[in-house]
Amino acid sequence: AASTAVLSSTGCTAFSTRDPLTTAGKLSWRNPLQIPPLAEATVSGNTRAFTLTAQTGSSTFLPGKTTPTWGYNGNFLGPTLRASAGEKVAITFTNSLPEPTALHWHGMQLPAAMDGGPHQLIDTGATWSPTWTITQDAATLWYHPHPHGQTEAHVTRGLAGFFLIDDDNPAGEQLPHEYGVDDIPLVVQDRTIEKDGTFTIDKNRAVTGLVGNTILVNGTVTPYLPVTTSTVRLRILNGSSARIYNFGFADDREFQQVATDNGLLAKPLTGTRIPLSPGERAEIVVAVAAGEKAVLRSYPQDLRMTIAQGNGAGGADTLDILELRGAATVVPSLAVPAALAAYTRLDREAADETRGFELNGRQINGKTMDMSRIDTVVAAGACEVWTVKNSHAQAHNFHVHNARFQVIEMDGKQPEGYLDGWKDTVFLPARSTAVIIMKMSSYTDPNLPYMYHCHMLWHEDLGMMGQFTIVKPDEVDTAPRTIEMSE
Ligand code: C2O
Ligand code: CU
Repeated sequence: AASTAVLSSTGCTAFSTRDPLTTAGKLSWRNPLQIPPLAEATVSGNTRAFTLTAQTGSSTFLPGKTTPTWGYNGNFLGPTLRASAGEKVAITFTNSLPEPTALHWHGMQLPAAMDGGPHQLIDTGATWSPTWTITQDAATLWYHPHPHGQTEAHVTRGLAGFFLIDDDNPAGEQLPHEYGVDDIPLVVQDRTIEKDGTFTIDKNRAVTGLVGNTILVNGTVTPYLPVTTSTVRLRILNGSSARIYNFGFADDREFQQVATDNGLLAKPLTGTRIPLSPGERAEIVVAVAAGEKAVLRSYPQDLRMTIAQGNGAGGADTLDILELRGAATVVPSLAVPAALAAYTRLDREAADETRGFELNGRQINGKTMDMSRIDTVVAAGACEVWTVKNSHAQAHNFHVHNARFQVIEMDGKQPEGYLDGWKDTVFLPARSTAVIIMKMSSYTDPNLPYMYHCHMLWHEDLGMMGQFTIVKPDEVDTAPRTIEMSE
């Protein structure tokens, strides 16, 4: 019992979604944080090629317990892919899993055939080779499976990885940028580990999906990170199925938020909390003094659900996530630049189209996902304002493929600063409304849709998802509304 890898004082198996979980100050920080390796790339001319294989394996999270897991090029999670704006990316992906999967590039702007959504299902033993040119700014993106109905199970078993985009914005060089040293990717996930070591997958869900009692950061239980520089940049990804975090530090120290989902903010935002729902990212820079310990924590937050439901989504929990350990001497870091990324705020008045999406139950606009139905057809290049209303008494969120958007209104008000910049996923507490604005990309294929959906993976699996195509502006009215499905 000297091991405190198990978070709940009641142990792994007695977890009830109604009991708030707290590990504040209780963990003994035994495991060095694992850093996902950078994927090896083959570069020829302007093309950067990566090879990924989804495979089965096993991992040890709790002492003496073997957990069957899935990973990309390994046992659990996947390597970090990294490419620069303007480069062409070529992926060779092989599915060595016992069942079909799909590989989606979350936050990426790319043709629908490369998107890796539910229509690009890859059979066992098959290889898929998407290729596209990076047309967006520096950002912390990620990749994960997207097979319709199976996404929660595939991600829970371990499939996910980072995809970092670099660009020539000089701010990128001034921010901490040495991967694994002062620039640290953190995928924060929760699991429940059964007595026999297996992950809980298909049972005991909260209203939002699987909410576990064991936190994994980059696949590490109770992790600590030695810090050798005076500030460290944390690229935080909520890679959980359903748990909603509210990140801060145990001593409430301030940090500077420098990026949201899809890129750097215009200027750093100083704060003490950053809430992230599944799929969302934030980059923060925090100072750690020599010899000091700083604990990244997730604090309770108001999800506007009932207590029992809120606990189910983690809303009442206080969880210690990662201990930063300042070395005896630290190398001074550069100050965070006052100007980060220059981007224009999209003008609501200039919108070409406005649409409404209502989330309720497990449906969007009263419909459950139908892969043969195209719900929305948008014109290439159009500036669109989408009002996303969560009418439900439960929390959801909303993610749009192939798009980056700005949140221009939350519940009729100016959004909080942490929602600034380019986002691709927005959290919607129970009975809340977000207004987002985005510029659609050029047209791709009128027969091949992109997705918008709740990113709570179980909700997505249950069909809380819709499909949209991007077509030539003069073909919006005539573009297909149905897709012929083979088999
Ligand atoms: Cu991160 Cu449609 O997904
Ligand atoms: Cu949902």
